[in-house]
Amino acid sequence: MAFGMTKRAHIFRNPWLYALSIRLLHFNGFKKIREIVGKKKNVFEPACGYGRLQKYLHDNCSYSGIDLNEIFINFGRKRGLDIRIGDVLEEKNYIKSDIIILCDILHHLTRDNIHRVVSIAKKFSTEKVVIMEPSFVGLASGKGFFSRLAAKVFAKVDFDGINNIEHWSTRQDYQKLFKHLKETNKFADMKIQMSKGYYFVELIRA
Ligand SMILES: C[S@@+](CC[C@H](N)C(=O)[O-])C[C@H]1O[C@@H](n2cnc3c(N)ncnc32)[C@H](O)[C@@H]1O
Repeated sequence: MAFGMTKRAHIFRNPWLYALSIRLLHFNGFKKIREIVGKKKNVFEPACGYGRLQKYLHDNCSYSGIDLNEIFINFGRKRGLDIRIGDVLEEKNYIKSDIIILCDILHHLTRDNIHRVVSIAKKFSTEKVVIMEPSFVGLASGKGFFSRLAAKVFAKVDFDGINNIEHWSTRQDYQKLFKHLKETNKFADMKIQMSKGYYFVELIRA
């Protein structure tokens, strides 16, 4: 990881713009997370951005998170959220929780770091790890001209200032990855749902 290597994309410099882009892209597709998490849960989100997901949870859930984007963290903290600066690759930043959510972060990470984050998340969750990833990005994974162009555009607009996105996964890549994460981390069960261009994957501990 190289900190501050280039300027973040616009959406990662302005939380309002980020919120608007996500809303336009997914409408209210994230409402699903409310039923996946359920009531009265402690939720921890590594790479929480400004804590956007908190509003989708039941009021009786607690929510906290970490991220390296100080603009997002300040924005969320001003709105009363329990979020702080912290690297998802460092175990010391995690807190024990019923459910750990990894939303829109795996495709920013290298394969090794995906494994690292999911194994730390398993260690710190008591019920399950929930992964949310965009399924539509597969169109940027081909070798043709338009795919390569889409890959360049996506990588630019989704540049978080921390990780360079070098690879976009096809649906098959994602299916393989989820299965691999379940098996290598010895989760007891896995449930995959697709909704509005997103995977909602529950890796269940027991
Ligand atoms: C696409 S955003 C998703 C934010 C949030 N999960 C959401 O759904 O709104 C990806 C986030 O990952 C954060 N990030 C990337 N690498 C990180 C790292 N190593 N440690 C902490 N945060 C990281 C970025 O700062 C960015 O806020």
